[in-house]
Amino acid sequence: MRPLESKTSSPLSGSARIPGDKSISHRALMFGGLAQGETIISGLLEGEDVIATALAMRAMGAKIGRGDDGLWRCEGVGVGFLKEPEDVLNMGNSGTSTRLLGGLIAGHAISAVMSGDGSLRKRPMNRITKPLSEMGATFMTRTGGRLPMMIQGTDQIKSIEYRLPVASAQVKSAILLAGLTAQGDVTVIEDTPTRDHTENMLQAFGHGVRVVTLEDGAQAITVTGGTQLQGCSFDVPSDPSSAAFPCVAALLREGSDITLPNICLNERRAGIYTTLIEMGADIKFENERMQGGEKVADLHIRGTGALNGIDVPASRVASMIDEFPVLAVATSCANGTTRMTGLEELRVKESDRLAVMAEGLAKCGVRLEMGEDSLTVHGNGTPPQGGVNIETHLDHRIAMSFMVLGTVTAQPVRIDDGAPILTSFPNFIELMNDLGCEITEINGGACK
Ligand code: S3P
Repeated sequence: MRPLESKTSSPLSGSARIPGDKSISHRALMFGGLAQGETIISGLLEGEDVIATALAMRAMGAKIGRGDDGLWRCEGVGVGFLKEPEDVLNMGNSGTSTRLLGGLIAGHAISAVMSGDGSLRKRPMNRITKPLSEMGATFMTRTGGRLPMMIQGTDQIKSIEYRLPVASAQVKSAILLAGLTAQGDVTVIEDTPTRDHTENMLQAFGHGVRVVTLEDGAQAITVTGGTQLQGCSFDVPSDPSSAAFPCVAALLREGSDITLPNICLNERRAGIYTTLIEMGADIKFENERMQGGEKVADLHIRGTGALNGIDVPASRVASMIDEFPVLAVATSCANGTTRMTGLEELRVKESDRLAVMAEGLAKCGVRLEMGEDSLTVHGNGTPPQGGVNIETHLDHRIAMSFMVLGTVTAQPVRIDDGAPILTSFPNFIELMNDLGCEITEINGGACK
């Protein structure tokens, strides 16, 4: 446990380099560890979740290492040639590692056992075991599709056309990754567009992916099994989900002026910025360009301390699925009511984010209503009082969101455990404090 406290900060100023995108970093290691030849990755996120992926790929035969120059180099095993891991794969806190690697293993004639921490062991895996079983792999899980999970993969993966029952890039990716070794075509149909980094990066590694828009507007994404991936050089842009924390902190404090360079602004990830701008935020996208097949820009954020409540369209949820905790913080300081709907997936993230945010904000004195899949927050234009201790439930984004709230409350906000922040944003405290925040370890003075 690593209790943290966040106190009222001065206006934020300066420029801060946000670590590499988590989704892209996982995939860069998986594809690099699978491809023929060398892959060189710059800007990789060195957070615990991504390291779990690196260690698992190593345990299955890939050569993956970090040079003194900060570059990660992979020598892949070749599609179809993953080795059976000798021990349980420890996925830590990482749902992305578990579900995507679950798909990869399903398409190889090897067995593997996966487990993880107390948060990951509560999360549903049947969303991947169902389609992957239809494709020919065999799974054993605890009741409710929970980890530990035993996978018996196959080199006879069947063609499938699968319509996603939930809007999930992890499930889509698991099926496409199993499809790399299939006997023919594997197609995933998604009614709601979810992040498409798997599709983009497969192209970068030389694997054709076909995307067709169907008559009903859904998208059909197809891979054909049996093609090798080719190693490449890959530059990971900065993570828009991590950038949202200093961004909201700056917006809530009048007089703030910060720049966050090189942020990935893939349109299926950038919903938080559209939403904040609708709330009245001053966010400029400067130097828009392409990097590693993704749109990136430098974010220039000026804080006025004045945001307005809005209705967030449910159709936007997938493009900001990880940002609702920090958005909830922003809405609690905004002027007026914000209605957020279509949030059922928040209940199966690292924690039940809907319940944990509602409970924590209510404890801070915020007026709100929570439904099965909705949250309505009534802001009065002034930050809530604070002076509370919040349980983070092994959830990095809950931890960071409440640290952001503490930068504007009259009384400090404390969290019981900031350790999960290391999964996705290892230098969060240092970076926020360099911008002007005051986040400290409760028992040990100022954090570096
Ligand atoms: C991710 C997809 C999302 C997201 C997660 C990362 C990915 O999960 O919440 O943090 O990298 O594919 P779902 O696909 O379950 O929505």
